[in-house]
Amino acid sequence: MSTSLLYLLIPVGVGAGIYLIRKLRELQWGWVRNNFSLRGKVYIVTGSNTGLGYETAKALVARQATVIMACRNMEKASHAIAKIRQKTSEGELIPLELDLASFESIHKFAAEIKAKYPTFDCLINNAGLAMQTPQYTKENYEVHFGVNHLGHFLLVDLLKDNIKNNSARVVVVSSKMHEKNAKVDFENLGKWVDRARGDRFNNLYNNSKLMNFYFARELYKKGYDAHVLCPGLCHTDFFRDYNPKWYHYVLFSPVVWLMLRSAKQGAQNIIHCATENINTAEKNPATGYYIANVKQTKSKVAFDDLVSERLWKESVREINEHKK
Ligand SMILES: NC(=O)c1ccc[n+]([C@@H]2O[C@H](COP(=O)([O-])OP(=O)(O)OC[C@H]3O[C@@H](n4cnc5c(N)ncnc54)[C@H](OP(=O)(O)O)[C@@H]3O)[C@@H](O)[C@H]2O)c1
Repeated sequence: MSTSLLYLLIPVGVGAGIYLIRKLRELQWGWVRNNFSLRGKVYIVTGSNTGLGYETAKALVARQATVIMACRNMEKASHAIAKIRQKTSEGELIPLELDLASFESIHKFAAEIKAKYPTFDCLINNAGLAMQTPQYTKENYEVHFGVNHLGHFLLVDLLKDNIKNNSARVVVVSSKMHEKNAKVDFENLGKWVDRARGDRFNNLYNNSKLMNFYFARELYKKGYDAHVLCPGLCHTDFFRDYNPKWYHYVLFSPVVWLMLRSAKQGAQNIIHCATENINTAEKNPATGYYIANVKQTKSKVAFDDLVSERLWKESVREINEHKK
């Protein structure tokens, strides 16, 4: 074989190999198979103007549901609705303002839900962010704790009677990152903590995703129909605060391409939790199970009941602290 032919075959072979692995992975990531009508059902999806929340809202409304799009920016919400309406005219999309970084906004949103949609069927706690530099909520909590955990905690607390009375479902969007160097840092709860020396990122995001898991766990233990999931690494606006250098793209693109799902594919895990009956006495958030790749998966974390209960109590204390 001539050398020039070899030079051609090697990259073609590597490319074909990567492509095949990618296709195999896509099969493992899974798709929601149920497609019954959701007519008459009301879903609340936080952070649904983009990314996974957007894809979830789009899929639910296409199945004739009413979807309340709980977004902090009404212009972005209108734009998202217009985009969804180019694809489907089914169901109903209702934009409502919710800024999870503001207790006042959360109270206002919950009051509106109680007044207009008191018998909603499912609350999907999807909104979330990861920041590289310190940012704070109106009540001065660093945003990973404040938005990803406490904002949703307050929302559920304000809607708890409706959730209980309707046996509504609560879907918590966590992440596999809850297993990576994450802890509930009670000493610094709500405070910005710089990344440790040698670490590329701080752990505040991972910690907040662990809190999501503990929250779902505690909700389940308290009798709520709670479900927790990881969507997988997905191509969304989530990485907007990360500024990779050009050589990161060159170095990591093949690996990322192997692992990165579309937002639509990642959202399957949310839609699955919102539409399937999946918790059993053995497999549920309290026993450490969550949904990943559209199936039940056991977390590697050894959850601690004392941490669960303490986080709940401290979260209640924080939301009471700011009661008018
Ligand atoms: N993408 C991934 O690889 C990945 C992996 C694991 C878990 N997740 C989780 O999936 C969830 C959705 O993330 P995504 O990937 O879809 O990210 P995204 O595209 O950035 O969407 C995040 C959504 O949250 C909203 N949001 C942020 N702060 C908010 C606030 N203070 N109040 C109300 N809404 C707020 C955003 O609104 P704006 O557009 O106005 O900012 C946006 O609608 C997050 O909980 C994330 O932790 C994502």
